[in-house]
Amino acid sequence: MPETLKGRSFTRVADWSRGELELALDLADELKVERSRRKELRILPGRTLALIFRKPSTRTRISSEVAIAELGGMALYVPAADLQLARGESTRDTALVLSRFVSALLIRTFEQAEVDAYAEHASIPVVNGLTEEAHPLQALADAMTIRERFGTLTGVRIAYLGDGNNVCLSLLQIGARFGAHVVAATPPGYEPDARVVAQAAADAARNGGSVSVTNDAPSAAAGAHVLYTDVWTSMGHEDERERRIRDLRPFRLDADVLSAADPEAVVMHCLPAHVGEEITEELLYGPQSLVWDQAENRLHTQKAVLALVVR
Ligand code: CP
Repeated sequence: MPETLKGRSFTRVADWSRGELELALDLADELKVERSRRKELRILPGRTLALIFRKPSTRTRISSEVAIAELGGMALYVPAADLQLARGESTRDTALVLSRFVSALLIRTFEQAEVDAYAEHASIPVVNGLTEEAHPLQALADAMTIRERFGTLTGVRIAYLGDGNNVCLSLLQIGARFGAHVVAATPPGYEPDARVVAQAAADAARNGGSVSVTNDAPSAAAGAHVLYTDVWTSMGHEDERERRIRDLRPFRLDADVLSAADPEAVVMHCLPAHVGEEITEELLYGPQSLVWDQAENRLHTQKAVLALVVR
């Protein structure tokens, strides 16, 4: 295993260079092939990954647990409410102590600052399993899935329609790193964080791609190779559900949107889906959907990240 990323954290896409992300994607491709051949790869024997979660999860939790198990290690799922954290122990002390017990931490929480604090104080790699600002593991699986279909991300036209949330931000960032043309179409007031967009746009320009934001869904979808959406009401925003459904309705992925895209366009969604809200049943389960490959690729990319960062 290359040593370049050993000990490194992955708190946001921008932590890693294009070459480092490419290393992870190439390894994920290899690991996917080896798994299909039923080849055992005990790259991390005896290592333990602790998963500290403040929110529910299906894909991130299960794929990470399976990933470390298939690499020869073990997972320790720890709801944050069960730790002394819930009674006021600091993130710093938790990070210092867990660094003596386990080989890596995967954190799902609300504030990006919490993940950043773990990364600052832990002496082991810290991986972001979703915050309000970022979902880098999802972005890596998205990039793998797009590469599988188009052979590259460079020059691929990606249209994200919906809420300018964490998934949108990480997609903009990874698309920018690889020179894709990414546009986020959101209703007014739902735009992705302007600071992250500006950084991603500068990165995209350096790599021959582009990043832009619009309030016009049809113009974003026109000619797109990838149509991407996410749930309209993310965890923690349930009290805004009615307003969000009303505001985001024109940004739903449906047959009309698909007909405006490139004839070979694919449909992506990070899941969980609310069928009939942000995406129609026809698109989610249709022949142009890559959603289930995208979900599977969470396993291969997370395995690659762990294999590369855990000592
Ligand atoms: N896409 C994703 O992160 O799914 P989970 O919330 O189930 O982990």
